[in-house]
Amino acid sequence: MSGRLSGKSAIITGSARGIGRAFAEAYVREGATVAIADINLERAAATAAEIGPQAYAVELDVTQQASIEAAVRAVEEKTGGVDILINNAALFDLAPIVEITRESYDRLFSINVAGSLFMLQAVAKSMIAKGKGGKIINMASQAGRRGEALVAVYCATKAAMISLTQSAGLDLIRHGINVNAIAPGVVDGEHWDGVDALFARHENLPLGEKKRQVGAAVPFGRMGRAEDLTGMAVFLASADADYIVAQTYNVDGGNWMS
Ligand SMILES: NC(=O)c1ccc[n+]([C@@H]2O[C@H](COP(=O)([O-])OP(=O)(O)OC[C@H]3O[C@@H](n4cnc5c(N)ncnc54)[C@H](O)[C@@H]3O)[C@@H](O)[C@H]2O)c1
Repeated sequence: MSGRLSGKSAIITGSARGIGRAFAEAYVREGATVAIADINLERAAATAAEIGPQAYAVELDVTQQASIEAAVRAVEEKTGGVDILINNAALFDLAPIVEITRESYDRLFSINVAGSLFMLQAVAKSMIAKGKGGKIINMASQAGRRGEALVAVYCATKAAMISLTQSAGLDLIRHGINVNAIAPGVVDGEHWDGVDALFARHENLPLGEKKRQVGAAVPFGRMGRAEDLTGMAVFLASADADYIVAQTYNVDGGNWMS
């Protein structure tokens, strides 16, 4: 199949559902073969089957080094190497500062930050060994651009993703590996169903009200959809982005300017 990612092998973490799934669909449309790498193997397999023969499921828990290495090996064995990684898997949590628990902090940093760093490292090693460069895309967030009263830990993990993108981008470009990031705003889907329910509990709102508020506040006029992000994800993985290094792009309907 011809396309902007024709013949490329991609691994997308946390792509059994949500934004990662939309990325996988877009990459397959552009000619890539995509590993749907997720902790939820059953859902990853169902997603891969729905997307078609260019998608396949790989079990991955980004908090476990052995799982990261096994997943990268599985992609190498299936496709001969990794050309593109999207570090997409992440968890959200919400609490006032005085109620944040060590457990929540450790869980979010271990998935969102350590998981992304060691996934990036394993894929970079594989790309360097092949000597053909590659593209790595980290998922940041508008939450990494400024703090939010109830969202301290998640915001800190996403600020860390912007910083990690800068350092890894500067280190890996000498190997022809571009590291960049996407900072979405508020994107509707199962993830935001959970976020909405947490806000409902902490701000005493009816279900759906937080979504309505954040959607109305977007300059574009509505919450994002996963499909709104796929253009940037395809672009950053394509040869058109070869000269782009260590950047974080806002794709958020105008919520944040930087
Ligand atoms: N939805 C939004 O509004 C929004 C906004 C800004 C940034 N983001 C970021 O975009 C990315 C995708 O968000 P989403 O809304 O699609 O999330 P989601 O919750 O719908 O999907 C996350 C996926 O990650 C998987 N996962 C969880 N723990 C894992 C682990 N340890 N190892 C491997 N996989 C694991 C889950 O099974 C799930 O399939 C995340 O990095 C998120 O922080 C989302």
